[in-house]
Amino acid sequence: MTDSRLAIIILAAGQGTRMKSETPKLLHTLAGIPIVSHVLATARELDAAYTVAVVRHERDALVTVITDELPNGLIVDQDEIPGTGRAVEQAIAALPDDFDGDVLVVNGDTPMLDVQTLAGLVNEHRQGGAAATLLSAYLDDPSGYGRIVRAAETEGDRPNGRIGRNGRVDRIVEHRDATDSELAIAEINAGVYLFGVAELRDLLPQLTMHNAQGEKYLTDMIELLRRAGSDVTVLPVSESWLVAGINDRAQLSEAAAKMNALIIRGWQLAGVTVQDPATTWIDLKATFEPDVTLLPGTQIKGATVIARGAIVGPDTTLVDCEVGEGAIVKRTDATLSVIGAGAEVGPFSYLRPNTILGAKGKIGTFVETKNAQIGDGSKVPHLSYVGDAHIGVGSNIGAGSIFANYNGVVKSETEVGSHVRLGSHNVFVAPVTIGDGAYSGAGTVVRKNVPAGSLAMNIAPQRNLEGWVQAHRAGSAADTAAQAALAAQAAEAALGENGKSTTTGERADRTGE
Ligand code: UD1
Ligand code: CA
Repeated sequence: MTDSRLAIIILAAGQGTRMKSETPKLLHTLAGIPIVSHVLATARELDAAYTVAVVRHERDALVTVITDELPNGLIVDQDEIPGTGRAVEQAIAALPDDFDGDVLVVNGDTPMLDVQTLAGLVNEHRQGGAAATLLSAYLDDPSGYGRIVRAAETEGDRPNGRIGRNGRVDRIVEHRDATDSELAIAEINAGVYLFGVAELRDLLPQLTMHNAQGEKYLTDMIELLRRAGSDVTVLPVSESWLVAGINDRAQLSEAAAKMNALIIRGWQLAGVTVQDPATTWIDLKATFEPDVTLLPGTQIKGATVIARGAIVGPDTTLVDCEVGEGAIVKRTDATLSVIGAGAEVGPFSYLRPNTILGAKGKIGTFVETKNAQIGDGSKVPHLSYVGDAHIGVGSNIGAGSIFANYNGVVKSETEVGSHVRLGSHNVFVAPVTIGDGAYSGAGTVVRKNVPAGSLAMNIAPQRNLEGWVQAHRAGSAADTAAQAALAAQAAEAALGENGKSTTTGERADRTGE
């Protein structure tokens, strides 16, 4: 049910210079979605009456992502006055004048936050009755964060050497404005706050820009409130990673690793075997049925769906794929593809978008496919390219075959019927159709349609030019070997002429398997 007394402000206007990136900081991804989308999705669960996102740098790119996640959210453009305080000041102005509830402010770069932590903050604020309630965390390395400065009178009480756990909060000091003794404080401001809207309307206009960064700091609200005689409550979070802020790529990879570990644990408890969590990466939107097995070095990205009993990996990347029940997908790279139940893919297969492999089908070693529908039980086992093709059921494509779909100008399709047997090393020059039950010989270049039940072949008869090596490569190793073989054959023939019976064993023709 919508919380009519709650407004949420998400701060997303910063430049993110520490990422050193062309991509706006909040659009860098972890677990497959942008940093800011994690925050938006969590905020959405609180079902506030108003949700406001403040944007400025790369605003259009941000707005696209924000409206995707929060279609009813309000967008506010921050002006040229910098700072988190200014961002909130402008967001407040977008709320209706008669809104007199609570305002939850969340930094857009805090993707690990969960809804329980936010709901806990809202409850604490409403029960505690302070003018502001904010989240803090104790960090081994607090550098970069604002520090929670508590009253001197309780400094004697320092559990684990942590300054002022029990002291009254006086203010927040930013890292760049802090004295050496303030820098020693391990309790940091998480960037997640609850304020009464009335206090924000009163005090935000009083923020100054007299600080190291020349910005209006939202964090200065705490000192303004305390000076006005109001109470401020600080709520330390249970686990500090919940409020990790992402400012640079090192922090991004740490947060991504933590989130991945949480996602993997969740799926393990839901019945998925993950043999090596350290080398397995699963995006937030991927889903699994029980008894899936993921082997080491595997990345399951996007909205991939994997059915019961499938075995994926090792060393496999699936992006937005669907894997059927009991399928086996080994050392494979696949995007936007469907792998049928009981099908086998890999090792070393490359499935490009719109590959659809039927039940019990096979795409084997060193095979690339693209826009290829391969029917139930059909197989492309070795060393082939299948592009822009439809293959019926129960057909077999010979080793080393190429679907030549591109003549340099247009791409065309190849149709292969059902129960077709195609020889090794064929080229199908599209557009071309091969009827049901047809065969082709090894090395066929199929340029014309093959009617159902026909055998297609177009290789010229083989000619052997005897003595060619001796004439043109005299003295080479090949010549020496050939001369020796010919001499041995001549000697054997001479023996035969001397009355001994000969048995010339027939050499079986070998075909590729
Ligand atoms: C901020 C806090 C710091 C806290 C830390 C927690 C301030 C002044 N400092 O520092 O006390 O420990 O977060 O992670 O608030 N933003 C705007 N408009 C601006 C500037 C920033 O919307 O003018 C947004 C950014 O996009 C970002 C968030 O506010 O999502 C925080 O900004 P950032 O520059 O990362 O602040 P920190 O230095 O991390
Ligand atoms: Ca930050």
